[in-house]
Amino acid sequence: MFNLEIFDIKLETEFIGRNFIYTDEIESTNTELLSNKQQYKKSGTVILAEKQSSGKGRKGRTWQSARGLNLTFSILLGKDKVEELNINHINLAASLAVSTAIENLYQLKTELKWPNDVLVNKRKVAGILAETSIKGNVVERVVLGIGINLNQYTFQGEFNIPPTSLKVETGLEIDRENIMAEILNIFEEMIFELAVHPKNILNDWRSKCQMIGDKITVTEDEKIQSGIFHDIDENGYLILKRDNKIEKIHFGDVSIN
Ligand code: BTN
Repeated sequence: MFNLEIFDIKLETEFIGRNFIYTDEIESTNTELLSNKQQYKKSGTVILAEKQSSGKGRKGRTWQSARGLNLTFSILLGKDKVEELNINHINLAASLAVSTAIENLYQLKTELKWPNDVLVNKRKVAGILAETSIKGNVVERVVLGIGINLNQYTFQGEFNIPPTSLKVETGLEIDRENIMAEILNIFEEMIFELAVHPKNILNDWRSKCQMIGDKITVTEDEKIQSGIFHDIDENGYLILKRDNKIEKIHFGDVSIN
């Protein structure tokens, strides 16, 4: 069971995780935070579930995670942050925070895959699903759902990127409270940094994305495009270069050719 006391001792944030909801089983922590209940109004609210009955992945996929072994949680950022920041930046910062926490605690080398997968040894250790709640055409809130494989040892199902866990990669039993607090501490610092120097976060993200410069294919529903992963732009969009033309990609799955 997740030890809230140990987690709380390690948490050094001002607002992220200060309203913390722990639950045994839920449909999806993202769906729950998007539900707009009164107890989920505060920016920085975090909900952690030991098990999700319908965990969601990007592009309508599912996210499977064994009960009690990993981390499946969501962070709410309210109007105060959404008005101030670029949502794509927040999305990239979330993957950067997860990868930085893993490197700080476990001396593993991580890699970021656009838009927000975290890989270790070319295998996926964490995924992020950012969802928004919109009123009229104004984004009111953003929910960042983070799934990290920590102590799960075997994985069943079909995956577009082979999965791994920190236990598989290190041989160690992973302390869930410690890494959870580390991620939230780092993510909050990044949120503050984004408000003043977003370029720094984008540069840190770039430095961990080994695919930049590679020949890639981007699949977005029916649309498949190949070219060179030239860079990400100031909004975090992928810049694809083909035949000396530049194409900006907002969504999609990237694979190396
Ligand atoms: C992906 O890589 O496809 C994104 C996976 C995101 C999974 C997390 S687990 C916590 C949160 N709740 C969900 O239903 N999904 C996200």
